[in-house]
Amino acid sequence: MAGASSWSARWARGRSSRWSCREGEPHSPSPRRAGRGQGRGAERRRLDTAPLPDPLPGGKREVLRLADAPATEAVGAELALKLRPGDVVALSGPLGAGKTSIARGLLAALGLEGEAPSPSFAIVQPYGPPEVRLPVLHVDLYRLDDPDEVEELGLDDALGDSVLVVEWPERAGPDRWPDALRLTLSIEPDGARALTWDAPAAWEGRWST
Ligand SMILES: Nc1ncnc2c1ncn2[C@@H]1O[C@H](COP(=O)(O)OP(=O)(O)O)[C@@H](O)[C@H]1O
Ligand SMILES: [Mg+2]
Repeated sequence: MAGASSWSARWARGRSSRWSCREGEPHSPSPRRAGRGQGRGAERRRLDTAPLPDPLPGGKREVLRLADAPATEAVGAELALKLRPGDVVALSGPLGAGKTSIARGLLAALGLEGEAPSPSFAIVQPYGPPEVRLPVLHVDLYRLDDPDEVEELGLDDALGDSVLVVEWPERAGPDRWPDALRLTLSIEPDGARALTWDAPAAWEGRWST
């Protein structure tokens, strides 16, 4: 089983050649990626406004109203207490809905000092001890051009000892992580957020509100 450090090193190598800018540089997609991404505009718009997923068979659905950003981060903090290696948390919702805010609350509760950066350009942002108690891969698949590209990220290899927190999981295809905890955010007319919490059957006994 790949340890967090070896996985991080592998990911870092891939990142420098494929996914990301060096720290401190302005972020911009490569011409290849920018060009390929343009043809998906219609699909992106459709996904950006996708309705709620169907409830999971045997799972549990709850809907919460989150009045402000601290309330969104508090959901992440509460979730952090429930997580185990191998868990996948899928964060859905339109741009600006609060997905990264949940991840930030989660990472802060696991011990991360300072604000976690959004991984929207890096795609994968790994965290491991000692900065956090539990290895976490914070992932944002928004810029993924093709669901097959998710294989190149090596996320499933890392699941043995890490938690995956994935923004835009739809980009990886519909059945990539069937046992994921699915959190879907939407923006209410008054600016608050609605959070629909879909816990799969595999999570029974782990979540109660
Ligand atoms: N419940 C909330 N009510 C109002 N604003 C919120 C709430 N939750 C998060 N926000 C704010 O929404 C903005 C976008 O949040 P972010 O987590 O970056 O969204 P996403 O990752 O979904 O694009 C941030 O300014 C954040 O503080
Ligand atoms: Mg985000």
